[in-house]
Amino acid sequence: MKSLKNKIIVFGGTGHYGRIVVEQLIQKGQTVKVVSRNRENALKLLGDKVEIFEGDVCNRETIIDSLKNARTIVICLSAMSNKLIRKMKQIERDAVLAIMEEAKKQNISRLIYLSGYEMREELLRDLKIPEFGEIKIEVESKISHSDFNWTILGCAPSFEIFFAFIRNGKMTVPGGGLRAIPSISAEDVGEITAQTALRDDLKGKRIRLTGPQAFTFPEVAEQISSISGKKIKHSAIPLTIINVVSFLLLPFTPFVRFLYKSLKMLNNFPHDLAERVPKDFEILNKLFDYEAISLEMEIRKRLEENSL
Ligand SMILES: NC(=O)c1ccc[n+]([C@@H]2O[C@H](COP(=O)([O-])OP(=O)(O)OC[C@H]3O[C@@H](n4cnc5c(N)ncnc54)[C@H](OP(=O)(O)O)[C@@H]3O)[C@@H](O)[C@H]2O)c1
Repeated sequence: MKSLKNKIIVFGGTGHYGRIVVEQLIQKGQTVKVVSRNRENALKLLGDKVEIFEGDVCNRETIIDSLKNARTIVICLSAMSNKLIRKMKQIERDAVLAIMEEAKKQNISRLIYLSGYEMREELLRDLKIPEFGEIKIEVESKISHSDFNWTILGCAPSFEIFFAFIRNGKMTVPGGGLRAIPSISAEDVGEITAQTALRDDLKGKRIRLTGPQAFTFPEVAEQISSISGKKIKHSAIPLTIINVVSFLLLPFTPFVRFLYKSLKMLNNFPHDLAERVPKDFEILNKLFDYEAISLEMEIRKRLEENSL
């Protein structure tokens, strides 16, 4: 008899990376279930080829019921928004641990977790932002010490990060963004994650997902200028301004404080990790069957779509 445990369940399947993961899984003919707090919105984003399980992962019943008939779990949850930031611990830590607990009870063994590129406890301590990566570090540790057939995908920031700072021909970056950082297209994250979900030979592996090259913000401004023929002027604003503003706003929202910490991390991105990017990219190319999207391709696409 055919097993009923045939679904790939994606937590966070409506998100920036998650929705492309879902798209790619569907394209590969998989049966996909997505857990979302808003069915209508999820249907709009993902279409009707996906089963939507409406629910909040902070609710244990949602987790228990949604896991039924799942054979593989993909976790792309994030609380990195003004609305959700106060519930970060519940969403990104407690819910993930609850998913693991309940998955075990339901004998689901394959688990894929989308994480940050690489969280270094010592660096975060030195930068005095230890809490920035602590949830991811703890969750990764719990997963890697578990007996799941797990794969952790350490995602570089989406290319979106460079475009988010551009307004009216100016790229204004807190701290300047003078360190080279890895970045990747959401499409590549989606494709690689979908392939990972369908493979059984990546057990116990942590893989860094990046595009071909690391860039500084000024380099990207330069690249956009030369491709588009329109000057994008890079400028820096002191990170201390964001620091002060984030403190002032703390009684109203912790989001700007969190943003400040991500910007601090970005501006202190480890040189050795940035230097390793071409090597990490080569590893990806060997491991997965895909045609990577370069930043140049992304810029050209955005110019064609008039979205830059
Ligand atoms: N985006 C990046 O550039 C980037 C860079 C590096 C690493 N990552 C990592 O990639 C992963 C995914 O990030 P993302 O940026 O794609 O996330 P995102 O766009 O912020 O999406 C967040 C997702 O989480 C879901 N979610 C949040 N709270 C929920 C709740 N209480 N119950 C159920 N679902 C909930 C949302 O679903 P609904 O709104 O439909 O409920 C949404 O699908 C994270 O681990 C993140 O750290 C992302």
